[in-house]
Amino acid sequence: QKLTKTQKLIVAIDQGTTSSRAIAFDERGQQQAVAQREHEQHFPRPGWVEHDASEIRDNVTAVLAELFEILGDQASAVQGIGITNQRETVVVWDAATGEPVAPAIVWQDARTQRILDEMEEDGGLDRYREITGLPLTTYFSATKLRWILDSDPELQRRADAGELLAGTMDSWVIWNLTGGTNGGLHVTDVTNASRTLLMNLRQQEWEPSILADFNIPASMLPRIVSSSGHIGQISENQPGAGLPIAGILGDQQAALFGQAAFKPGQAKNTYGTGCFVMYNTGTVPARSSKGLLTTVAYQLDGEEPVYALEGSIAVAGSLVQWLRDNLKMFDHAPKIEELASQVEDSGGCYIVPAFSGLYAPWWQPEARGVMTGLTRYVTREHIARAVLEATAFQTADVFDAAEEDVDGQLTELRVDGGMVANNLLMQFQADLLGVDVVRPAVTETTALGAAYAAGLAVGVWGSLEEIEQNWQLERTFTRTMEKDKVERKKRLWRKAVHRSFDWVD
Ligand code: G3P
Repeated sequence: QKLTKTQKLIVAIDQGTTSSRAIAFDERGQQQAVAQREHEQHFPRPGWVEHDASEIRDNVTAVLAELFEILGDQASAVQGIGITNQRETVVVWDAATGEPVAPAIVWQDARTQRILDEMEEDGGLDRYREITGLPLTTYFSATKLRWILDSDPELQRRADAGELLAGTMDSWVIWNLTGGTNGGLHVTDVTNASRTLLMNLRQQEWEPSILADFNIPASMLPRIVSSSGHIGQISENQPGAGLPIAGILGDQQAALFGQAAFKPGQAKNTYGTGCFVMYNTGTVPARSSKGLLTTVAYQLDGEEPVYALEGSIAVAGSLVQWLRDNLKMFDHAPKIEELASQVEDSGGCYIVPAFSGLYAPWWQPEARGVMTGLTRYVTREHIARAVLEATAFQTADVFDAAEEDVDGQLTELRVDGGMVANNLLMQFQADLLGVDVVRPAVTETTALGAAYAAGLAVGVWGSLEEIEQNWQLERTFTRTMEKDKVERKKRLWRKAVHRSFDWVD
């Protein structure tokens, strides 16, 4: 990629569910260079999803080194580093050797149902909602961390003795980049901490009563810091040595930040492995009565946190990957649009991809995927279309829930992530929602958001207003489908959703 002459760059590390990337952005928020490596997805049993944290650690160092190589002379223009990451996924490692003690349990993993069942009896699934903003479910880090500590009797003892460290991917990556066993920094930001089910949302501190319930020693957890500020420094033996780490944001919060959705009432949806609608509610942690999560959107250094309501959807792009990898329906994911556009509709077929249960607004951990409405009329093309539509329907479910929570204030949805290049999906989304679906010029907003958070702290951008000016519209999608037709489709979709419930034996 050809580099333009620019004075200042910020590097974002995006440690995502399927890959790790390092991206350099200039002051206009334009991408200047990128390096990327995928890591393996391990599915050892139905419902289980694991990552090898050592592979991820090595990939992060490798992409950072590659990026600096691509940048060449321009590497000296880099002012700082922002980190963004797949949220909730948990790593536990040995403080003395720096090696993980178990595979990382990924956010999509549903193995901890048993722990939930036990805890549900004692206080119900909403027992921590008031303090954490979250329901008790397999998605968040707490039950995953408990599961790891239960997996080997030695681990609890070693955790209690202060020999083990735990964290989400941001903590793991930063600890390694800042020295590892030679004094690595053990931190997490407030947005990532808000996804663990262990943080008090109003105080932004680990909640002792919940730590006690899960029997998790506070000493193994990272220190919680704000999302933007001088957090640490890249160590001597890493690429980018000496550069400040100046921003951390969970990837969905980073996307909101990269969309410059700083005002209460603004909303975004990121179409990645999963799909995550986030709605800025300002400095108030708003409550949802409809199954949305209350979470921290970001916290600038020395300021009040800004909160958001979130509708998390576990499976979106990963359904397309499943068709590609497991069913071998096509070789390249973008082919799905070509297939889907050969038919007018899904031919009556509906696919509910409840691979990890259903998240918002349903929170049905025991749901599993279903395909309904099959007749001999249905073709490969119809199925391709039903796959794309599933993402839009799931978003519409979240949006309908949000509408009630936020009193009909949602007037447009800013979209980003890999799948938004798909015009058919975006049009169908606008048809279902009835509000404008707005696609910006830069759709890599996750990495951009982390770059903005870091750049604010090191002075590349002076204010949020300056960042807002970088946001540029590329295209707006508006409803063209008649309302009756939309309602009929939504009705059938909901029927299919209910068929997916209660599948686990
Ligand atoms: O909550 C999970 C989310 O952070 C994962 O995002 O983009 O890696 O699918 P993504």
